[in-house]
Amino acid sequence: MGIERIGVLGSGLMGSGIAHTVAQAGYQVLLADVDESIVNKAVSGITRRLKSQVEKGKLAIEEQEAILHRINTTTSMEEFASADLVIEAVVEDVVVKRKMFGELDRICKPAALLVSNTSTLSPTEIGAPTKRVGQTAGLHFFNPAPVMKLVEVIRGLGTADETVATLKEFVVSLGKAPVVVYDSPGGIVSRIQIAARNEAVRMFVEGVASAEDIDTAMKLGAGWPMGPLALIDLIGVDLHVTNSDSLAQELGAERFRPHTYMRKMVRAGYFGQKAGRGFYSYDQVSDRKK
Ligand SMILES: NC(=O)c1ccc[n+]([C@@H]2O[C@H](COP(=O)([O-])OP(=O)(O)OC[C@H]3O[C@@H](n4cnc5c(N)ncnc54)[C@H](O)[C@@H]3O)[C@@H](O)[C@H]2O)c1
Repeated sequence: MGIERIGVLGSGLMGSGIAHTVAQAGYQVLLADVDESIVNKAVSGITRRLKSQVEKGKLAIEEQEAILHRINTTTSMEEFASADLVIEAVVEDVVVKRKMFGELDRICKPAALLVSNTSTLSPTEIGAPTKRVGQTAGLHFFNPAPVMKLVEVIRGLGTADETVATLKEFVVSLGKAPVVVYDSPGGIVSRIQIAARNEAVRMFVEGVASAEDIDTAMKLGAGWPMGPLALIDLIGVDLHVTNSDSLAQELGAERFRPHTYMRKMVRAGYFGQKAGRGFYSYDQVSDRKK
């Protein structure tokens, strides 16, 4: 497969989880972000999660140290020059991602693969500014990355068969299961989930049931670990609206258009858990639902 050194660009929620996952699987990782305080925060979070695994007896202390030893950090993308694979996990903005891919193409060695963890954007569009389109793709991890077993390998229009095969092998080496999706916004999981969440909002607004009852129904009746409205609050109402709009534009406005009610919530600043108010009210400190 020839992949040993991994670069992870963006050390937010997903980038830090991906760095943790690949380091735990034995790879050398270089984790980058725009500011040193952000990468340091990411490493502290990874350390905290590993410590908790040690305390629960799930991980040996020596292994915790070895994993942390495999993670290096930087604020300079130039250091990705020796990476075999770069996983981009910066903000969900196609302009930013395309710019990052253009720069990575200039910096990285010719054989390196460049992939994006995008949830809803097109890997074809993100990879287009590079001169190695065949070596670009989407590689969609789920949150929390160290726990979730699925990774979607999203092939762009020009992604080479060899790249897809290498990425599948890489995902298996992480102890996870790959599925291959042809470039389609939202892949498999987000597309189905976003449609279902929007339907839950329509039912809530129509007064079919309360938010609590909709969420309880989907947890106890459909086996979801979390109800759709609580999940929108967790993701952020604003981000859910943006992601729905993105799918609506490509796949059909009727099916994916977010309900006007959520646009009003965004205008009012009811962004969900992070704002203390969404479909539920939250205690800002404990994040508990009221
Ligand atoms: N949050 C989720 O549940 C989830 C799940 C799967 C995929 N994703 C996707 O993963 C990506 C990242 O999402 P996230 O939730 O981790 O976001 P986040 O906001 O937590 O992290 C994004 C990070 O990117 C950094 N960044 C921005 N511009 C940069 C640049 N030029 N160079 C280096 N770093 C830069 C930011 O400083 C931030 O730390 C998005 O494309 C998102 O759609 C998110």
